[in-house]
Amino acid sequence: LFARHWDFITSVKEMHQLPDLGGVEIAFAGRSNVGKSSLINKLTERKALARTSNTPGRTQMLNFFGAEHTQLRIVDMPGYGYAEAPKGMVDAWTTLIFKYLRGRSTLRRVFSLIDARHGIKKNDLDAMGILDKAAVPYQVVLTKADKLKPGQLERVKEDALKILAKRPAAHPEVLATSSEKGTGMDELRAEIALLVSY
Ligand code: GTP
Ligand code: MG
Repeated sequence: LFARHWDFITSVKEMHQLPDLGGVEIAFAGRSNVGKSSLINKLTERKALARTSNTPGRTQMLNFFGAEHTQLRIVDMPGYGYAEAPKGMVDAWTTLIFKYLRGRSTLRRVFSLIDARHGIKKNDLDAMGILDKAAVPYQVVLTKADKLKPGQLERVKEDALKILAKRPAAHPEVLATSSEKGTGMDELRAEIALLVSY
């Protein structure tokens, strides 16, 4: 699946621009700067497929990626919780994100990215609340694991699992990843391959 050549399909700013339903979609969601685009690049082994940046708010549309001969599509989402963006812009993309998450029948799982240094915050819980309500399955993926010592990472994982245990649409496992070091990529790829196979 990930040995294939991944390409950009389209960017979506408004709901009517969404590509036709087809195949299986997975989406990467999370706070601005959490590492969504970096993780997609690492997964697909393409350095600059999804645009990454030090400046939060880099990804401002839903970006769709695909590879030939696979039914999987990967969606890079704009980050939430980016306080410095103009309010009108934030409102526009928050609406888009929530509409997309609620209404997409081919969306098989959302990977809810959480910075391992920060853990699950209020706006992450808000996003999870939307997914729970819409019954969209989601799985927490910790990012930037390279920034923590193993012991710290275990604690963050345990805290996350406690929070997730009470949430109806949450997957009961948490993955720890580092796009910088490649940690956790095989596990994440295996998880995604399972989603495509059934
Ligand atoms: P928006 O599109 O703005 O919502 O951000 P994003 O979630 O797509 O984050 P992006 O992938 O652009 O990464 C943000 C910053 O975090 C960049 O400077 C990355 O280099 C850095 N980063 C991403 N993943 C990792 C990681 O695993 N380890 C470390 N140390 N830094 C990372
Ligand atoms: Mg991004």
